[in-house]
Amino acid sequence: MLSILSGRGYQGSMKVESTDFLIIGSGVAGLRAAIELAPHGQVVVVTKDQPGESSTRYAQGGVAAALSDEDEVGIHLNDTLKAGDGLCRRESVEVLVNEGPTRILELMEWGAEFDKEGSNLSFALEAAHSKKRVLRAHGDSTGKEIERVLVNKVRSLPTVSRYSFAYSPDLIVKDNTCYGAYIIKDRKTSAIVAKATLLATGGAGQIFARTTNPFVATGDGMAISYRAGAVLENMEMVQFHPTALYSPAAPQFLLSEAMRGEGALLRNINGQEFMKKYHPDGEMATRDVVSRAIVSEIFATKSDHVYLDLTHMDKEFIKNRFPAIYSTCLNYEFDITEQMVPVSPAAHYIIGGVKTNIDTLTEIRGLYVAGEAASTGVHGANRLASNSLLEGLVFGARAGESIIRNPLDDEEIKDAGLKVERESSGRSFSTIVQYDEIRSKLRKIMWDRAGIIRCDRSLKEALDAFEQWHWILDKEFMTRRELELKNMIQVGLIITTSAMERTCSVGAHFRSDYKEKDNCIYAIDVQKDRGITRELI
Ligand code: SIN
Repeated sequence: MLSILSGRGYQGSMKVESTDFLIIGSGVAGLRAAIELAPHGQVVVVTKDQPGESSTRYAQGGVAAALSDEDEVGIHLNDTLKAGDGLCRRESVEVLVNEGPTRILELMEWGAEFDKEGSNLSFALEAAHSKKRVLRAHGDSTGKEIERVLVNKVRSLPTVSRYSFAYSPDLIVKDNTCYGAYIIKDRKTSAIVAKATLLATGGAGQIFARTTNPFVATGDGMAISYRAGAVLENMEMVQFHPTALYSPAAPQFLLSEAMRGEGALLRNINGQEFMKKYHPDGEMATRDVVSRAIVSEIFATKSDHVYLDLTHMDKEFIKNRFPAIYSTCLNYEFDITEQMVPVSPAAHYIIGGVKTNIDTLTEIRGLYVAGEAASTGVHGANRLASNSLLEGLVFGARAGESIIRNPLDDEEIKDAGLKVERESSGRSFSTIVQYDEIRSKLRKIMWDRAGIIRCDRSLKEALDAFEQWHWILDKEFMTRRELELKNMIQVGLIITTSAMERTCSVGAHFRSDYKEKDNCIYAIDVQKDRGITRELI
């Protein structure tokens, strides 16, 4: 599908190829964009692991859309704005809730099977939704179903080619225009120039010691955009999911919020219910409230977990409603129908990201970002549960539409490719000898010092620790794991710096030394040349 730009192939060690549209990342946003772009030219989707390995695949709870007879887009809008705690960009939320239903119906036309009650769609309740509006598939495997449908659709499109196990160390940016990206595959670097580049690389949960995210979530799109000069917005807004499995012998597996939506209770290690003490909505309070309540109980009971209790619920209902969670827990010897399950919070979603407009365009011409890697303004200070798959669908499609309207022209691309060829020889690559040690220290520091509850002192300690790794940020690396570590350090540093700058508590960001919201209604922007700035929303 790709054409060799100059016809000469390699110069030095760099091959330069061209395509119409380059997408990095193959979760919901990337795949949806590929479908939109396919009729308009050659699309290359680069993915650093096997196709479909992304946070999308692991999303359990579902996808929210105002499709039930009892619901309205206006109510979905208000719930999203309320959860966002004053920091959403209203225009973006309007796009999300208005276009969401169409994107879901389209997905169903392509074969998505959401759970039904009789012949009608069945809607679940999740925290901070005032209506039952969360669609799910196979009980608790919604992401897998959406990904199945999108992957099948993409496979049927002859203009889309996919590069697996390929990753990008950097974008090709000159004079604030993005012409594509450098790509490493099989230890060889090439450059792919394109009329538009979309990053749909997902989140960065791996920078925290506890996370529900898959191994691929290392903040790559955020870090490479930052290096290229894009603005990162509200990176301190990290959503911690209250209930990830807590057991030394088991992974930090997500126990969906929908379980509390169906009546599961939280109890401390003494078996006492506690949520009503912290919030009138109890178990259905927003995730930040529930996560902090759990941290308080853990502290008060000198333990390291609390329990999620479903034992009062009907056993057959649990097995049918949460089949994947039931069987995964059983594999680790927890029968959720018979016993309380040990849980504690884990990093789940990066609410901030690369700042984009409602058409997913960043401040760099030719560079678009969608999905978790982006900050479109839909989540504000706190993401409403199950709005993220919807965001991927809506803004993935919008990215495609926006790119089609405004691609770079052929001549520009040709010139950029020739320049890259001339400049590309003589790069030297470093190695990180203490890779494992640095990675695990970074994850522990982010969890302990820049996690659910932060303060000036803890954040300073984190920043001090980052000093020893600054050298890594200036080096080039050839292997995926070293590049990921470089990106994790970059994103961790930006999260910590942004958390330090936001001297108030709002949404998912909680400072024990600034517990009030005060006049917190600004965005925090970080950009390489301009540093950190506050922007009024
Ligand atoms: C969950 O199932 O609890 C996660 C859903 C989400 O993060 O939106």
